[in-house]
Amino acid sequence: MAKPPPHRAPARPPARAAPAARPAAPAPAVRAGPGTLVVNGYSERWLRQGFPWVYPTEVVAGAAAAGEIVQLRSVGGDELGAAIADDGWIRARRFRSDAGKIDAALISGRLRGALALRRSLGLGTTTTCFRWVNGENDDLPGVRLDVWADHVVISLDSPSLTRLLPALVEGIREVFPAVGSIHVGWRPDVRDGRVWPNPPGRIEGQAPGTVVVAEGGVRYRVEPAAKKDVGLFPDQRDNRTWLAPYYVGTRVLNLFCYTGAFSVHASVNGASEVVSVDLSRLYLDQLDENLALNVPLARHERIEEDALKVLDRFRRQGRVFDRIILDPPGHSHSGEGDWSGEQDYARLVAAAARVCAPGGWLIASSNLGSVSPRQFQGALVDGLRKANCQGRVIHTGGQAADFPSALHFPEGTFLKFVVIEVQHA
Ligand SMILES: C[S@@+](CC[C@H](N)C(=O)[O-])C[C@H]1O[C@@H](n2cnc3c(N)ncnc32)[C@H](O)[C@@H]1O
Repeated sequence: MAKPPPHRAPARPPARAAPAARPAAPAPAVRAGPGTLVVNGYSERWLRQGFPWVYPTEVVAGAAAAGEIVQLRSVGGDELGAAIADDGWIRARRFRSDAGKIDAALISGRLRGALALRRSLGLGTTTTCFRWVNGENDDLPGVRLDVWADHVVISLDSPSLTRLLPALVEGIREVFPAVGSIHVGWRPDVRDGRVWPNPPGRIEGQAPGTVVVAEGGVRYRVEPAAKKDVGLFPDQRDNRTWLAPYYVGTRVLNLFCYTGAFSVHASVNGASEVVSVDLSRLYLDQLDENLALNVPLARHERIEEDALKVLDRFRRQGRVFDRIILDPPGHSHSGEGDWSGEQDYARLVAAAARVCAPGGWLIASSNLGSVSPRQFQGALVDGLRKANCQGRVIHTGGQAADFPSALHFPEGTFLKFVVIEVQHA
């Protein structure tokens, strides 16, 4: 079964897909004692490259309950590492490639290493919200840690990982002594048929409620412990930062604006006018709060409406913009119909290009892991062609550096971000 990438995107097929049927495997040379899973040659090859998951169809012998620590072995009897078993669409997540323990020492070492990377990126000083642990990409499969000022939120991909919580909490306290509260939630996977227990929730400190975080000189209001919407996507930080010098005197249209991080950024960085569009009044209200936390220079207009409908009206009115930000969700539903990031992106690009000033920029983003960078580029080309425009890519970005993607884990790359200068033919 496919797995969503580690942040906010819904499903995409994994780069290393689970085999549909179990490939023929020689009879295991080792007997699988308790606490051992014997994997087939296909899984062995991937594990040896560093890939940390074993799929159910790849286990040829052995049994283990979800949450149990298991030793992985090849059919030839080689040790392939220590893992935590699961009973969902992943059968085991490997935490180390030797047979050592998955214990507090291992966890605190991984937390320390992950934090050292973030510190070396300058995070935790003027930027007070960042991803501390990015799951598989920081050698802690299924575990994400986000820092929101002094609050730490742990997200687990499966209840089978709850056995790690004591070690995680101990490690967080040791490595990040300024911690004010620790919360734990699941990352729900809609394709996972299991009934999950209630998430552990707050396990330490006071409930943070609303917190103001800083991203460089810009401030945002977030709710770290909110079940769904914290209020900011830090994975777009480097893209916001890249754009900052290029807003001066521009008319900015931010479509699918959510709580307005791009709008606030444009407003404080010298845009003359910012228009923010979203279907949700709640998010637009949060955008207003975010604007009020800063010193916006731009005239701001908020529009609670379907983005494509707004684009159509602007075209009829002859209204144009110099910077148009497109960061739609994977899927959504409105009175105007269903939106699919896989099928409708070219249509969105065409509609946006028609209201882009000559020499203006389309700033196109997608967090859909199911759309490859190549397919994304294809949608941009199709959309510009439909609008009878030409484009030049002047910048390509991606997820912020605190969302690293390990080379042995292609699933870690999900965010596409392309800036195109548009000319009308
Ligand atoms: C991925 S979020 C955008 C994140 C935002 N660009 C940021 O960086 O914070 C998608 C947003 O699109 C909004 N949305 C979904 N369908 C929409 C539509 N048809 N028209 C306008 N907004 C829509 C959602 O309410 C949500 O706030």
